[in-house]
Order: sequence, then C-alpha cells, then structure tokens
Amino acid sequence: MATRRGSLSQEKSREDITTYTAAHGHRSPKPEKGHVNGFKKNGVNGKNGKHEHLSNWHNDFYESFEETPLLVAILTYLGYALLVVIGQIRDLMRAYGIEKDKSCTEPKLEGFVPLFLSWESFYTRNLYRRARDCWNRPISSCAGGRIDVMERISPDYGWNFKLTGKKLNVMNFGSYNYLGFAENSGPCTDKVEETVKQYGVGVCASRQEMGYMDIHRELDEQVAEYLGVEAAITVPMGFATNSMNMPALVSKGCLILSDELNHASLILGSRLSGALVWTYKHNDMADLEKKLREAVCFGQPRTHRPWKKILIVVEGVYSMEGSIVRLPDVLRLKKKYKAYVYLDEAHSIGALGPHGKGVVDYFGVDPHDVDVLMGTFTKSFGSAGGYIGGTKRLIKHLRTHAHSSIYPMAMPAPTAQQVISTMNVLTGKDGTQEGLKRIRQLAWNTRYFRKRLHDRGYILYGNKDSPVVPLLLYMPSKVAMFSRETLRRGMATVVVGFPATPLIETRARFCLSAAHTKEMLDEAIRIVDDVGDLLRLRYSSLPAPDFTEKDIQLVE
Ligand SMILES: Cc1ncc(COP(=O)(O)O)c(C=O)c1O
Repeated sequence: MATRRGSLSQEKSREDITTYTAAHGHRSPKPEKGHVNGFKKNGVNGKNGKHEHLSNWHNDFYESFEETPLLVAILTYLGYALLVVIGQIRDLMRAYGIEKDKSCTEPKLEGFVPLFLSWESFYTRNLYRRARDCWNRPISSCAGGRIDVMERISPDYGWNFKLTGKKLNVMNFGSYNYLGFAENSGPCTDKVEETVKQYGVGVCASRQEMGYMDIHRELDEQVAEYLGVEAAITVPMGFATNSMNMPALVSKGCLILSDELNHASLILGSRLSGALVWTYKHNDMADLEKKLREAVCFGQPRTHRPWKKILIVVEGVYSMEGSIVRLPDVLRLKKKYKAYVYLDEAHSIGALGPHGKGVVDYFGVDPHDVDVLMGTFTKSFGSAGGYIGGTKRLIKHLRTHAHSSIYPMAMPAPTAQQVISTMNVLTGKDGTQEGLKRIRQLAWNTRYFRKRLHDRGYILYGNKDSPVVPLLLYMPSKVAMFSRETLRRGMATVVVGFPATPLIETRARFCLSAAHTKEMLDEAIRIVDDVGDLLRLRYSSLPAPDFTEKDIQLVE
C-alpha cells in the first residue's frame, strides 16, 4: 500500500521518468548540475526568461505523495463512522429534549422546505463543532514570524467562546507571509504610512469613474515590468481577479481544462464564464494530453464543431498539496494542441524562483509563453489584491470587459504602495540586497524544514521547493489534538480536514516564511516531534528523500 500517487507515478508511462522512478523508487536522483530552486550551481543564478534549465528540469523535480497506509485508512474511516453514529444519537436526544439543542434552528414555515437542512449542517453541528476552537482563532498582531493569538475558552464544548483577555505570543506557521513582508515597521511600512498621509485610505470610486489614481498606473506598470510582460492590470481582490476576469476571456462554446485541485476562485470564474469545464487529474500531464486530444478530435458535444478556444487553467503552487505545476510540460502541450494557458501564481509569485518571479522564473521559461499570468498580492507581498499580466491587447480587453475593472472600488492607495515598495526591494531598486536575501532565506528554509521532517518519518506532501508543507494526520481526533498541542507549545499552525481535503487525507499545513530564523525552524521541528510522538504520527514507510545537506545550501 505504501506506493506513491500523484505526479511521479502518473508519469510512469513516460520513458524518461520511468527509468528514474524505477531506479530510485521514492527518491529522485541527486541533481549533479543545473538549478537548485532556480539557483544555478557553479555560476550565475538562473536567469528569468532563459531556457537554460528546460531540458533537464525533470532531474531536479522531487515531489512526494506517499499513499495513505491501509490500516490508517481503515481506522480513519472507523473514526468518522463512530462520530456520525454519536452525532445521530445526540440529534435524537436533542429532538426528544434529553440534550439541550444549542444550534440555530429555522422557524418552521408551513408548506416550505427547510432552507438549511443538509448533511453539511449535521457535519458542522456534530463533528466540526467538537474541534471548532482550532479554526477562526482571533489574532491581535501583525502576521509576522511570531503572532499574538487571543486565548479563548468554551464553556459548552465548542458552541460558544469567551476571550480570556490573555494573548499567546507564538511562532506563526500559518500565514502566507512567504517573504516576511507582513510587518509593521521598516522601509515598506514607512512608505505606506506616507501614502496614507497623501491619499488617505479609501478610494470611494471605481477605476472607470473617479478612482483611477496615478499610483494605480504606477503599480500596473511596475507589475508588468516585474513579470517581464507587455502590460498588467491590478484588481483590489485576489479572488475577484480570477472569478471576474475569466468570464471576460472564455464563454459558451469554449472549453476549460482545469486541474482538479484548482482554487475556488478559478472554479467560480470557470462556472461564471459559461464555458464547458473538464477537469484533469492533479498535475497529470498524461491525463491533460488525453483530454486535449479528445477535445481537438471530437470538438463540442453533439454538434462536433471545433471549440472556439481551449483554456488550460493551472496554479503555480497548489496551496493544499504543496505541489508545483509541471509548467514546461503544460506549455509543451499548449503549443502542440494550440490551447491557451491561464496560470494562477497566487502562492508562487515571490516565493519561487531565483528572482522571486514565480514558477515561470523557477523553471526559467519565457513569461511570454504563458497567455494569462495571474497572481495575488496577499501572500508574498503582504498586501491585498491581484493582477493579470500579458500582452497589451489582452490587458486592454480586460480593462473594458472584465467586471473587476468596471464595478468594484479601486485598490486603496496604501495597499498599492505596499506592493510597489516590496517589488522595489525584490528587484533591488531600493539599493539593497534585502530582496535577494529574503528569497534565498525562504528557499533555504523550505528545503531545511522539509528534509528534517522527512528524515523523522512523517508523511509530507508536495515539492521539495514548495514553502507550503502539508503533514498528514489522517484521523479526525488527531487533527484537533495536533492543533491544540502545537499551540500550547508555542507554534500556530493551520489544520485542514474534510470537506477541504478528502476524508482520509486530513493534514496540518505549515507555511514557511523568510521571517523564520533557523532557531525558529529548529524549535518548530522539536515541537512537531514532541506532538508527533504523542499522537504517533510517523506513518511513512518509505526511505527519506536523498536530497542532501549540500542540496539545502543554495550555491551562489
Ligand atoms: C490559488 C489562489 N488563487 C486565488 C486566491 C484568492 O486570493 P485572495 O485571497 O488574495 O483573494 C487564493 C487564495 O488563497 C489562491 O490560493
């Protein structure tokens, strides 16, 4: 049962990969030359837009997706079954007044079907409620390397909460603060403060009316330059960047080929567009090619007319799996089948590549090869909003056709300034090496943390260069315990369970940051170990990947 699923095993049919998986099993061969997270060994760092690593990127692409051990899967299902049985009994007791019902109930309206009655409310009432304290924790500080969590207690097992007034200052492994720009002091914050004094906070108008400020123009131009594309448009909300722009790109008669694990904003945008959506298996290039071939050969259903457009929709880093899109392969397929690519770099922009320019930079592909380059400012830039980059024609079209450019209020000036300032730091325009230092620190932290946890026998998902690190917990009881026990020991983490993950793949998810020091990482690993022993979490039966201490170092 201890085989791997996911991107590597799916590609077993491909000759080049077969030899390497067969020879190395769980491991990938050590890269002798070439790039390490885009950092070139023995030479200049990887150059954005140059194709120098493209031929050998497979050699340095390590992703692990160890399958759920059979016994653990059985015990996890039994755990959920037990919770459902207990939930049913308690619902029965509540119906007969034996137990007090504290849930919100709908007034009974004669002749109406209930508005909220569903399996989800049963799940929320009886299962989620028991661990509610692990989510929606109130925070009272900046989302930096450390964070203040406001302590709460529940007098009635998760129905209600009271704040104790105490703040727990703990290490923050839950925020998407990849480059540590979520800070409340320093040059970027000073600049934002100046901007508040100049422009105020709100804009109070949409871009098409009185909301288009000089700072928006500056931001659009800076984003385009940063991405290495002709033009860009920025939007005040990342989610809306996807959901409101996709309908302006595809419509009825078009086909969207969407990775099955794409973000909700991409799914919503796809649905709103009216295009037909086919999903393909996560990061599985064989499945994507099969669907592309089918689409090109058979055309639209019933009429068999050719599709007006085919749009492949992918993410740079998948935030629940920690995997990285196989971009060079996606681009190869897009060219072969004359499709378009929409790439969401929400979690990869800033966090991947030698210059922090995302997955495009990581693989060293030409940004012009990606038709629609989307990303958000909410993660690596410590701000808010999103962008789309591409050709001038594309951006001009979106400016006049996308709901996000016409209807919502424009981005607040301080929010725009935060992005401008952080991009200046990342590109060295501020005259320092701070940006490069942060990019490297994050890349080093990622490999160091992942390697140490792999060595200790935990099952981790994802790519060795992904700063999103999911650690598999499986059983529902362990999810709540893991979250509470790590917090008690001084570490805030996010735990994710059904319905956000499959029932038997519940996990903790660590988000690494350049704001984490080595001492913090070592302390976090000690805490995970401590809790891991308590909950018996060392499930892996495969040898640890063989990327070495030397691979952790990023050679100049
Ligand atoms: C892949 C992806 N796209 C888009 C978004 C939406 O971005 P935002 O949170 O900035 O609205 C997210 C949010 O986390 C995301 O993970």
